Amino acid sequence: MDQHSRADFSVKPTLVGDKVMLRPFLLDEDAPAIRALLQDPEVGRLTGSDNGPSDPQPWDESAEQRIRTWYGSRHEQPDRLDLAVVERATGACAGEAVLNKWDSDNRSCNFRIALAPSGQNRGLGTEALRLIVGYGFEQLGLHRISLGVFAFNPRAIHSYEKAGFVVEGVQRDALHYDGAWVDQVVMSILAPEWEGHRGHPKTG
Ligand SMILES: CC(C)(COP(=O)(O)OP(=O)(O)OC[C@H]1O[C@@H](n2cnc3c(N)ncnc32)[C@H](O)[C@@H]1OP(=O)(O)O)[C@@H](O)C(=O)NCCC(=O)NCCS
Repeated sequence: MDQHSRADFSVKPTLVGDKVMLRPFLLDEDAPAIRALLQDPEVGRLTGSDNGPSDPQPWDESAEQRIRTWYGSRHEQPDRLDLAVVERATGACAGEAVLNKWDSDNRSCNFRIALAPSGQNRGLGTEALRLIVGYGFEQLGLHRISLGVFAFNPRAIHSYEKAGFVVEGVQRDALHYDGAWVDQVVMSILAPEWEGHRGHPKTG
């Protein structure tokens, strides 16, 4: 079987690490955490999902309906993998990790991750990204995983570098946030690199 035919995004795995477990969303259980994640203004700023403090996103019934429809349908997606990041010590959902924009001809995906503030800065994110990126290369047969990260997010850039992503370029002034232009750093990791270090590249 060649690498290409191995990619099966309809399988939604549970990936277990030391501190985190990645699993399909459980809508009722995870809804409060997802709400907290999506309503956090700093997460919105870092992920580019709002337009700045002058444009607050009110939470209302239609926002609630949208997240229930979105997260309730993640297990049905045949061409992307959306997993909840769960802290093993508490069993609570801390955020999400996603492989999307699958290009089957070129065996590539985009990666995105977001943890709510209570889950940040404790090593959960780096472990989560190693788990899902490892799954992408080792089980889905991907060749390339890339991401975009805004230049004002050095923590995320550091976390990606720790797991083996390398900077391949900068999209200048890619985001207009709160009246200022912000660059987007493009990073990627390739299957042979992953094979060499499995998410623990030698640094320095
Ligand atoms: C980005 C994110 C996934 C990282 O996960 P995390 O669990 O918070 O990060 P970790 O604790 O695993 O690792 C963070 C690393 O960055 C370092 N760091 C923290 N703040 C930093 C800063 N301002 N500049 C540089 N490095 C920083 C930490 O010291 C740690 O490195 P170390 O282990 O070498 O000491 C998480 O913070 C998050 O979801 N943030 C909000 C949304 C977001 O930014 N998503 C990414 C959009 S591209």
